[in-house]
Amino acid sequence: MVKSAKDFFKPLAVGAPEPLREIPVRPSRVIHFFPPSNAKMVAKAPEIAPTVDILLGNLEDGVPADQKEAARAGMVDVGKTVDMGDTQLWTRTNSLDSPWGLDDLYTLVTEIGDKLDVIMIPKVEGAEDMHFVDRLLAQLEAKAGLTKPLMVHAILETARGVANVEEICGASPRMQGLSLGPADLAANRGMKTTRVGGGHPGYLVRDDPNPSDEDAPRATAQQDLWHYTMARMVDSCVAHGILPFYGPFGDIADTTACEDQFRNAYLLGCVGAWSLHPAQIPIAKRVFSPPPEEVAHAQQVIDAMGDGTGALMIDGKMEDDASVKQCHVVVALARSLASRDPELAELYGYSS
Ligand code: GLV
Ligand code: MG
Repeated sequence: MVKSAKDFFKPLAVGAPEPLREIPVRPSRVIHFFPPSNAKMVAKAPEIAPTVDILLGNLEDGVPADQKEAARAGMVDVGKTVDMGDTQLWTRTNSLDSPWGLDDLYTLVTEIGDKLDVIMIPKVEGAEDMHFVDRLLAQLEAKAGLTKPLMVHAILETARGVANVEEICGASPRMQGLSLGPADLAANRGMKTTRVGGGHPGYLVRDDPNPSDEDAPRATAQQDLWHYTMARMVDSCVAHGILPFYGPFGDIADTTACEDQFRNAYLLGCVGAWSLHPAQIPIAKRVFSPPPEEVAHAQQVIDAMGDGTGALMIDGKMEDDASVKQCHVVVALARSLASRDPELAELYGYSS
């Protein structure tokens, strides 16, 4: 027999806090990754924290095997010593099939569980992974005497994970969101790209031959390798009331293509992206904040639509009950971001 609907919000361990009924929506334009095994980076954490929405200590890929324990200890140090203000502190633990994942969860929850907002779990393949983490976290929360449940974010980076994306999103009330992991996903699927995110010039469509000149050059247009996965991820997340994010963009020097990748994600419904280098922080903050002219237009439609029903024309365009809802999405995001970012509040005309 499946679990009764009434039992989904009961703690999974005696003494663990009650599960959340809704995922809090906080400004989350940029998840900035730092390696806690690197003392220089740890020393910089207090300086970087106020410039990002989320600071994430990465224990997984990118950290050499012989530094896994140092990274875990560095993360504990950051949790205990850095004043995060209203910036969220996340960590990415090692995967559930690695020799470090269990110790990562045990140490971080018992040492700094009260400081962590979200735990990112990589290489999630199905609901069974989230059920394991859900129960384990409840036990650790009870042991640590935590009063607030930890949230979990999964990386979508295997073919089986994508096939099971809906059940992953709905597997636990802790599920906060998903990130697209294009590097692992490309490898797992056997995609023939060696790039970390972004497009590929070989993935294209081409104009038909010109019937009167077979040799005439034929225009091509590069296509988006990630469109299907991103759209599927957004639908699954929204259907379960959780937040979709784009993941890493590896070509740090190509800030233009990074911006394009982030903007595609923003327009499709993602709330933010990862930054792997300080140069990507302002890109993510800019791209995942609605442009002031769109906020102004959206407000104009909302004001003109009165009670939100009916239809009218503004600048030659039809507005109605549905389009005013689109405008509410933009204005609500602008208001939420402005509450954290005084520069944006100024740009939107919200500071007074
Ligand atoms: C991120 O973890 C990725 O594999 O792209
Ligand atoms: Mg990965």
